[in-house]
Amino acid sequence: MPERRSASWFGLDGKLGFVHRSKLYNRGGSPEMFDGRPVIGIASSASDLAPCNAHLRQVAEAVKRGVLMAGGVPMEFPTISIGETLMRPSAMLFRNLMAMDVEETLRANPLDGVVLLGGCDKTVPAQVMGALSVDLPTVMVTGGPALNGRFRGEAVGSGTHVWKFSEEVRAGRMSACEFRSAEACLSRSAGHCTTMGTASTMACVTEALGLSLPGSATIPAVDAGRARIAEQAGQRIVAMADEGLAPSRFLDRRSFENAVRVNAAIGGSTNAVVHLLAMAGRAEVDLALDDFDRLAADVPLLVDLLPSGRFLMEEFHDAGGLPAVIRELGDLVDGAAMTINGRTLAENCADAPNWRPEVVRSRKDPVAPPGSHTAVLRGNLAPDGAVLKLSAASPELTRHTGPALVFDTIEDYDAQKDSPELPVTPDTVLVVRNAGPVGYPGMPEIGNLAIPKKMLDQGVRDMVRITDGRMSGTSYGTVVLHVAPEAAAGGPLALLRSGDRVTLDVPARRLEMDVPEAELTARASGSADSFKKAPTRGAGWAGLYRSQVNQADTGADLDFLTGRRGHAVPRRPF
Ligand code: FES
Ligand code: MG
Repeated sequence: MPERRSASWFGLDGKLGFVHRSKLYNRGGSPEMFDGRPVIGIASSASDLAPCNAHLRQVAEAVKRGVLMAGGVPMEFPTISIGETLMRPSAMLFRNLMAMDVEETLRANPLDGVVLLGGCDKTVPAQVMGALSVDLPTVMVTGGPALNGRFRGEAVGSGTHVWKFSEEVRAGRMSACEFRSAEACLSRSAGHCTTMGTASTMACVTEALGLSLPGSATIPAVDAGRARIAEQAGQRIVAMADEGLAPSRFLDRRSFENAVRVNAAIGGSTNAVVHLLAMAGRAEVDLALDDFDRLAADVPLLVDLLPSGRFLMEEFHDAGGLPAVIRELGDLVDGAAMTINGRTLAENCADAPNWRPEVVRSRKDPVAPPGSHTAVLRGNLAPDGAVLKLSAASPELTRHTGPALVFDTIEDYDAQKDSPELPVTPDTVLVVRNAGPVGYPGMPEIGNLAIPKKMLDQGVRDMVRITDGRMSGTSYGTVVLHVAPEAAAGGPLALLRSGDRVTLDVPARRLEMDVPEAELTARASGSADSFKKAPTRGAGWAGLYRSQVNQADTGADLDFLTGRRGHAVPRRPF
């Protein structure tokens, strides 16, 4: 066994060792803390401001029990947390900040391994990104989904039903009072969103990567099984510290390919595209935007969950969770990929039962056929790519040409969307730009623009929408997202004008504006045009973020944070 990293702190004689050890006796600990057993960090993103993660305090207690059982020393510490529902201007603005916090805290402290505790959307990729750059033995434990929401005797899903209900209110089919009464009904227990939104997606793809214990992603937050798997993770990380099983020893290109394929099979969030690209960047694994289209092409949609299907995470867990999906995928995943428990993905899932075949469907009878998941589009509107989630789109709109109606901000759109004067028809292509990483800043989830009132009144429920921002993983609609480069970074989306004809051709993977090249050049150099120069970068975190953030097609990480920087012991502090 190699010398433990923590020995560079606690194994020292003299005043340095004295100081490193002494303070840790202040809660009554025993000298055995320092006898060479592994010191395990528990990186907790518990926060009252991130309601989906608030219960991680209890999960941390279970991890500690496991670490102690296995003979390790648990050290819980807080990380920045990111509450999707509260943070403005966008939780995504802070993902990379949280990743930096996790990375620097791990490297600066006497840790031999870490258990990451996250749940709400960005918290899982942020923690994984930070940990991959450090490359200590790492286990991810997610907080688990909440219990199904219940409203008027029916199951309702996080996010998805909020969007549905708010459209019902705007269409006059639901009262404001009924709408308000649904609020509490949607959040019945601790835990993250119950639909296949970004949190459930990231829990599943992290399990598919082999970074969390098999079967853990779907266990409800309040199920005793959640504490049990956390305890097992605590035991496992101690063994991993002994084995020196860091992510770089098993996390490779095939792990990420598996995650991309699993994301397609579960109908995962478009946000997984950005997060997986950023995570691969940290792990120095070559993964590209086009992989999400190419690798998903032969993968059917197997999991019948909202927003692409009918059920919620509780039913998915009852069915057998992710192992049931991976077993059903068979040769569509590379089962030889290794995982944190020292077994391969195929070994972990070989005997996985499927108790509810109506929830986890077979390859012969899928929810949607192969190639229904991610389309990566290119063209003169998105030279570096854009993303469309096919299972959330209306098939009749996937080949569509219509006039653009362009808004420079989401506030402009909101102010006009209900106006009877809005020059809009069912053919109109709605565009909101300046919603990318630099432009907003932080790439918010404004992409699934509310359908204009005038169209709702005509019974229109979906329209082609285009943005350089994102949309919630719980959303649906024919929405082109993540246009790169974004308008505020000089992308051609900035040159589009209302009235220009835009063509979305998903079968051909094209996204074009019918504007001659010479005209685009003239617009780019014209002073009176709507072309937006990149905004001033500003001060503080947002200023640093704006000046260093990569575009969506490579994961929107900060350019100086990609890659692995390791866990060499830093110099002495005194
Ligand atoms: Fe936290 Fe959806 S708002 S997971
Ligand atoms: Mg979300």
